[in-house]
Amino acid sequence: MFAGRLGWGGRFGGRAVVEDAGTVHTGPTTQVGGLYPFLLGTGLPPHGVPVGRDVLTGELVCIDPSGWTGRLTTNPGVWVMSQPGAGKSALVKRICLVYVAYGHLMCVPADVKGEYSTLVRELGGSVVRIGDGLGRINPLDSGPLKTRLSSLPGTERSALLDVLTGRRLETLGALLSTRNGLGRAPNEIERSALNTAVQLAADAVPGADPIIPDVIAVLRQAPEPLRAKLAAAGNAYLALTRSVIAGLDNLCDGPLKGMFDGPTSVPLDLDAPAVSVDISALRARGNDVVSAGMIATWAYTYSSIDSARSIGLMNRKLVLPMDEMWRALRSGPGLVDAMDSISRLNRTTDDVAVYVTHSLLDPESLPTEEDRAKARGLMDRCDTWVIGASTEEELQRVTGKRALTEQERMMISSWSSATSTGLDTSDQVHPGRGKYLIKLGNRPGVAAAMSLTATERRLYHTDRNTLEHEAAGR
Ligand SMILES: Nc1ncnc2c1ncn2[C@@H]1O[C@H](COP(=O)(O)OP(=O)(O)OP(=O)(O)O)[C@@H](O)[C@H]1O
Ligand SMILES: [Mg+2]
Repeated sequence: MFAGRLGWGGRFGGRAVVEDAGTVHTGPTTQVGGLYPFLLGTGLPPHGVPVGRDVLTGELVCIDPSGWTGRLTTNPGVWVMSQPGAGKSALVKRICLVYVAYGHLMCVPADVKGEYSTLVRELGGSVVRIGDGLGRINPLDSGPLKTRLSSLPGTERSALLDVLTGRRLETLGALLSTRNGLGRAPNEIERSALNTAVQLAADAVPGADPIIPDVIAVLRQAPEPLRAKLAAAGNAYLALTRSVIAGLDNLCDGPLKGMFDGPTSVPLDLDAPAVSVDISALRARGNDVVSAGMIATWAYTYSSIDSARSIGLMNRKLVLPMDEMWRALRSGPGLVDAMDSISRLNRTTDDVAVYVTHSLLDPESLPTEEDRAKARGLMDRCDTWVIGASTEEELQRVTGKRALTEQERMMISSWSSATSTGLDTSDQVHPGRGKYLIKLGNRPGVAAAMSLTATERRLYHTDRNTLEHEAAGR
C-alpha cells in the first residue's frame, strides 16, 4: 500500500516529517518467493540508459529498448505518458543523450517547443529552424537520394523513383488534409492527378527536387499525359482539378506562406551526432500551422533517412523522440499517417522511437475510426511503456491496454498532481517529477526515480516560471 501525498488518515496519521527509508531485506528467490505480499518484479538488466534508483529497492534501473529487443521485448518502441510537467521530456532527453554516446543518431523530427535545441547543439549536432524567415522545408525533398539517382542502374533507379513518388504523394496528401490545405483528404481522382503531376514536375528538374509551385504549374498547364490520365479536357479537366489546385495554393499562401513552398534551406546533416528540426517559431501562428509543420518535417525527416539508408549513406541506428505527440493527434488525420511511416522505419532496423503523450484519450480524439485504429497500432507497437504521474481515471484506461496491478496503480496515482494540468504553481513543482513506472509488456513494472545532474538540469529545463524569469532578465 502507498500513502497519498498527505500521508495516512486517522489518529497518528498525516504527513511524516522524517520519511522512513525502510529496510531492505534480501534473500534467495526460493525463500523470498514464498512471501507473497512482498514479491517484486525482477529488476531490469543494468545495461543501457541509467534512469535512477528503484523506488522500492534502491537498485539501479536502466532502460534499453534497443538492447532489449529480441530478448525482453519484441520491438524497440517506447510509449511515455504522464501529466504535464512530470518530466517526460527530461527522461526522453536522457535516453537520447546516452544513446548518442552509444553511437545512435539522435533525430528530433519536429521539436514543437524548441526544447531539444540546446542539447542537440551541445552534442555537436545541427538544428534546422523552420518558420518566419528562418528556413524552409520542401515536403517533396528526396534527401540525399537526388544526387545519387542518376548514377544508379536503370532498374534500381526506377524502383527507387516509384518509392519516392509514393512518399511524396503521402506527404502532399497529409498536408492537404490539414485545415490549411483542402481540409479533407484528396479523393481518388485528385490523388491520381497529383501522382502524374508530381512525376511530371520531377522529370522537369532532373537531379533536383520539384517544389509545390512546380506541381501547381503542371496541374494548371494540363499537359497531354495528365489529361489522358484523367480522361478529361477543357472544362471537365478544370472541374476535376480545381479543388486540389486550390488546396496546393493554400499551402503556398496564407498562414503557411514561406515555409513549404521552396527548396529546403538547410538539409539535415545525417553525419552529425544529433539533428533536430525546430518548429517552435510556428507556434505563434496557431495550432493548425504547427500540425502542418509537424507533418512536413516528419515526412521530410523520414524521407531523408530512408533514402540515405537505401543508398548506403547511413547505417547508424536512430533514436527518434516524437514529443508533444498529443498535439499531432489532435490536429487531424494526416499526422497519424506520417507517424505511422516513421514507425515503419524501426520495423526492420533497431531504431528507438519514443512517443510522448499525456493521455490515452489523445489517440481517441482523432476523427475517424481508421485513424484511431492506426494510432492504437502505434501504441501497440511499443513494447516498453513508461508511465509517470497520472490520474486514477487515466490509469483505468491504461489497464485496458496493459495489465497494471493495484499496487502499481496506487503508486502512480500517488505521484499525481492535484491540479488537472499538473503544471507548476510559483512555489510548487510537480510532486511526481522524475518518477516513472517502466512496464515491459505485462511483466510487473519497475518504478524508478530519476535525479538530474547539474548539467542536465541546465540542458533539460522547460519550467515556464524559470524560463519567463530568464527572458525578463535578458
Ligand atoms: N528528475 C527530475 N529532477 C529535477 N527536475 C526535473 C526532473 N525531471 C524533469 N525536471 C524538470 O522539470 C521540468 C519539467 O519537465 P519536462 O519538461 O520534462 O516535463 P514534461 O512531462 O515533458 O512536461 P510537458 O508535458 O509539459 O511537456 C523541466 O524544467 C525539467 O528540467
Ligand atoms: Mg515535455
